[in-house]
Amino acid sequence: MDQHLPQTLGYEAAGLVDEIGVGVTDVAIGDRVFGFNSEGAAQAELAVLTAWAPIPRSLDFAGAAALPSAVETAARALDQLGVSSGKTILINGASGTIGSAAVQLAIARGARVIGTGSPATHEYLRTLGAEPVAYGEGMAERVRALAPEGVDLALDAAGSGLPELIDLAGDEDHVITIADFAGAKKYGVRFSSGESGRAIYALAQVAKLVDSGQFFLPVGQTFPLADVAEAQRLGESGGVRGKIVLLVD
Ligand SMILES: NC(=O)c1ccc[n+]([C@@H]2O[C@H](COP(=O)([O-])OP(=O)(O)OC[C@H]3O[C@@H](n4cnc5c(N)ncnc54)[C@H](OP(=O)(O)O)[C@@H]3O)[C@@H](O)[C@H]2O)c1
Repeated sequence: MDQHLPQTLGYEAAGLVDEIGVGVTDVAIGDRVFGFNSEGAAQAELAVLTAWAPIPRSLDFAGAAALPSAVETAARALDQLGVSSGKTILINGASGTIGSAAVQLAIARGARVIGTGSPATHEYLRTLGAEPVAYGEGMAERVRALAPEGVDLALDAAGSGLPELIDLAGDEDHVITIADFAGAKKYGVRFSSGESGRAIYALAQVAKLVDSGQFFLPVGQTFPLADVAEAQRLGESGGVRGKIVLLVD
């Protein structure tokens, strides 16, 4: 893809409303909101949001800015899978940002969740409400030890393991990946992207879950906006768990 300078970056933000677009009636100047900037220019002192919801009362701006993409992606994938009360879902990459959101949203729907993560994350996964298993060789056997009949549905949020997920869920149609585009084609499972519609409703829904103590997403690290280059390097290195958030004074 051709890239043209200057580039803008950032699709999610949280802050105070200081201007309102023509025809917008559901916010007022001074409201605390979080949401998306569809143009990808949210890493700035001022951001124009194209979709938003009120910030949960219990969150600061950094905590709210970490939510939109993870929450929207997780809710969209769960919708496409048809996750509902009584279903058992396996989430591969449950300890990641999107995986953590998917675990909690699936539990809020009344599903049983088995989630993969490295062993160091298993206690964390339990606090989210998932039954943890380690990914890697033998993952399918470990899942069957918890769910001998297999699972109803599976979400790949890690970009790996599609053959095992299909085997455990019993059918390609019961599996979705958000992270393995090539694997989706190869194994005939759906790849979830925002192109077929975004689950924007999930922003307002998650705000209620946050305030009632049913949803939590850790912020990995914060940087002042002036240190955006350092934040970018840390993100590229992959060495941080949770979202990297830029703070504007
Ligand atoms: N399609 C979409 O709409 C969409 C939107 C946004 C992002 N994404 C994609 O979604 C993916 C996840 O993003 P994220 O921000 O949640 O990433 P993340 O926070 O880095 O999480 C990655 C997860 O993968 C797990 N993992 C690492 N190696 C693994 C392996 N070999 N087998 C199984 N699991 C493994 C990690 O477990 P441990 O940390 O416990 O090792 C962690 O749970 C990325 O590929 C991202 O590009 C897609």
